[in-house]
Amino acid sequence: MAILKNDKSPNFFAPFGPTMGYFKMPTEMINFLNESMDKKLDDFSDYLVGKVSQELHFDKETRKYASEKLFNFVVDYHQYTKNRNSFGEHNLDLNKKPYLDVTAAWFVRQFENEYNPMHIHDNCTLSSVGYLKLPEGIDKEWEEDYKDHYPANGHINFVYGSTGLYSCSNFLVKPQVGDFYIFPSYLFHGVYPFYTKGERRSFSMNMTFSMV
Ligand SMILES: [Fe+2]
Repeated sequence: MAILKNDKSPNFFAPFGPTMGYFKMPTEMINFLNESMDKKLDDFSDYLVGKVSQELHFDKETRKYASEKLFNFVVDYHQYTKNRNSFGEHNLDLNKKPYLDVTAAWFVRQFENEYNPMHIHDNCTLSSVGYLKLPEGIDKEWEEDYKDHYPANGHINFVYGSTGLYSCSNFLVKPQVGDFYIFPSYLFHGVYPFYTKGERRSFSMNMTFSMV
């Protein structure tokens, strides 16, 4: 049990709720993944929850590449969370070795009018989404959309718990090429449709992390 010690006043803190991690992918990584996708692959879209056109497995090389590139960030996420959830009492045990098991990894090709309903990811503890491509001209659509009180086109919506006073239960993320997010696998998320012709390409990786 973590015990909160407040030694600073005034102070605001957010002790509840899951941690999200954000990482900006380098251009070289975006290019590698886009090329790997373009070469591709065996379609397994029938097995996934989405209403999107195509969801395609990473091959072995792509999975290895992506896990290596993201490894340090995933370790930092666990370090941050362990420290935060214990109010600074605990850190990762550096005498042990971090181990990342990527249980599934796939590209998602979403086109105009398609959507991905609210879902969670199974068989892992941590999931993720990274953005590789957006339809040309979607900024124009967003310009209009943002005049509305609730812009959402092509955005991903994360939901946790239910609304209460002084608590945030859901938020939207506007996809940008190169942006990568990790989050606990039980976190509900879904993607709204957009209407600009073209491809919104992302990828997801399901992972489990341990110190061995
Ligand atoms: Fe998902």
